[in-house]
Amino acid sequence: MSEAATQRSIFARNPLDMIAHAHALQVQMCDAMERIADGLPDDVDRRLCAQVASCLQFDLPLHHHDEEAGLFPILRERVLPEDSLGEILDRLASEHSSDTDFASEIAESLEHLGQGGRASNPDMLGYMLRGFFERYRRHVHWENTLVMPVARLRLKPEDLETLSARMETNRRQAS
Ligand SMILES: [Fe+2]
Ligand SMILES: [Fe+2]
Repeated sequence: MSEAATQRSIFARNPLDMIAHAHALQVQMCDAMERIADGLPDDVDRRLCAQVASCLQFDLPLHHHDEEAGLFPILRERVLPEDSLGEILDRLASEHSSDTDFASEIAESLEHLGQGGRASNPDMLGYMLRGFFERYRRHVHWENTLVMPVARLRLKPEDLETLSARMETNRRQAS
């Protein structure tokens, strides 16, 4: 399949499925971070470090952008008072900005390990990894249990089109 056709087939899918898929990958990323933290300082899978670093640097900011510039504002327009989602979306959005900063700091250290280097302070890196994956697992859990079911219930077909278009733009701008 040509790249253009692949792109078309990706965006023909429900954008909420794409977001759910990203969440599943993020859970795997958190598990990988736990394996890395457990193995420090000597038992480190360098390829895994490089993969996680790339995920933290590129995939995560893109996903946060999909939610903040796409899903969350569209959802805010559609939720009903009984969904009581407003404060939760505020909280999740504020977590994005601290997580993006923290992720890029951790990614630098993991990239160094991925290239064959040693952690200058393994205890500190372990502490940072654990802090991140514990918080991020909670973040994804909240989105999967509190946000995604409401999005599937409230978003209309035209909202899904708007979200798809937004996500497509985000990817064009990122590449
Ligand atoms: Fe999020
Ligand atoms: Fe998310």
